[in-house]
Amino acid sequence: MQVFRGTIFHFLSNPALVKREEDSYQFINDGLLITEQGKVREVRPFQKEDKNKYKVIQDYSGKLLLPGFVDAHLHYPQTEIIASYGEQLLIWLQKYTYPAELKFSDRAYAVQAAQFFLGELLRNGTTCAAVFPTVHKISAEVLFEQALVNNMSIISGKVLMDRNAPEGLLDSADSGYKDSRELIEKWHHTGRLRYAVTPRFAPTSSPHQLEMALKLKEEYPDIYIQTHLSENEAEVEWVRRLFPDHSSYMGVYHEFGLTGHHSLFAHSIHLNDAEWTIMQETNSAAVFCPSANLFLGSGLFELNKARENGVPVALGSDIGAGTSFSALKNMSDAYKVSRLSGYSFSPLDSFYMATLGGASALDLDSETGNFSAGKYADFVVLDWNASALQARRQQPLQTIKEKLFALMMLGDDRNVVATYIAGQKRYSKV
Ligand code: GUN
Ligand code: ZN
Repeated sequence: MQVFRGTIFHFLSNPALVKREEDSYQFINDGLLITEQGKVREVRPFQKEDKNKYKVIQDYSGKLLLPGFVDAHLHYPQTEIIASYGEQLLIWLQKYTYPAELKFSDRAYAVQAAQFFLGELLRNGTTCAAVFPTVHKISAEVLFEQALVNNMSIISGKVLMDRNAPEGLLDSADSGYKDSRELIEKWHHTGRLRYAVTPRFAPTSSPHQLEMALKLKEEYPDIYIQTHLSENEAEVEWVRRLFPDHSSYMGVYHEFGLTGHHSLFAHSIHLNDAEWTIMQETNSAAVFCPSANLFLGSGLFELNKARENGVPVALGSDIGAGTSFSALKNMSDAYKVSRLSGYSFSPLDSFYMATLGGASALDLDSETGNFSAGKYADFVVLDWNASALQARRQQPLQTIKEKLFALMMLGDDRNVVATYIAGQKRYSKV
């Protein structure tokens, strides 16, 4: 058994869907998080007697204990091309991304990249992520191996791409199917890992490859599908030309049978009403990647549309189009997108999306995302005051909502004191 003392905040439900938002979370200013065999046993207020009751209390008094962050879309091979200058999506892919991904046919190269990448997730308090490797089977293999070492909750799968990319990044519909199948057999549900069939996006998969992706989904119904959707206007136009017989970009995925409960659509920016309806009717999830969308100048995700349509939304850093691994910085960008779109995304909405909401969109909320008894003790310890400016801004604030807002607008990796996965400390600042 382990006992942690600190300020506890976690969600019980979606703050946007309850009558009184205070009913959606539990906030304990001085509380205990008690874990047993890597799982949450209980959270409750600290009482004086606890000092004698427990031999060892890990004391994070004054710090915030929050469920670990969920990053529902990012690319580990793109860690090294973060902050590549001056292009929109399609040129950015050609000029920076594909050359970087070519290196991942080499196991040793992939190993050091995966280790660095997973280290960055932990340093930023992210305990659960849906990750793209490259087209190379070995790049997925390596990520799974390394994630298993840390017992992380990772969804991934070798990228499928059999056209419209450099020769060294192409598979074929048949080899992609065979490699995916072998990876599923080996890794899906190994430890906390899950497999996602990962067609990069419609332009780089032939119709035959999309058919083979569906075949995998039919053979392994609880696997995930992850891809990109409607990020950039030139991309949308390209899809229209490549798939003239389909109703829309979303229609391509839907008509190939790739929408559904475990389907994750990164970006989902330029959607028409019919596309939102498909999302809603198939219970597919949209992944909002604000940092990447601003960096590449792709557009503004319509969170209000997602809401109106009851579409689950998770938050994604989309490294390396996004410029920060920090969920806090991505929440801050999400807020700015909401301001440009004429509404305000509340701090409760943001923290929900980055924790329980993300876990729920990934259908992992039965095991992570909040401190309900029996879930994995995946959590991050945050310092409210990681800089003089943050301390000055936090000092007069009274309510948890105000404090969370200042934390997400001003915070980043400096605020992360420690990261725990299933009760084990996997990162510590000091
Ligand atoms: N669309 C297809 N591939 C990619 C990628 O690697 N990054 C982003 N942001 N969009 C994509
Ligand atoms: Zn992406």
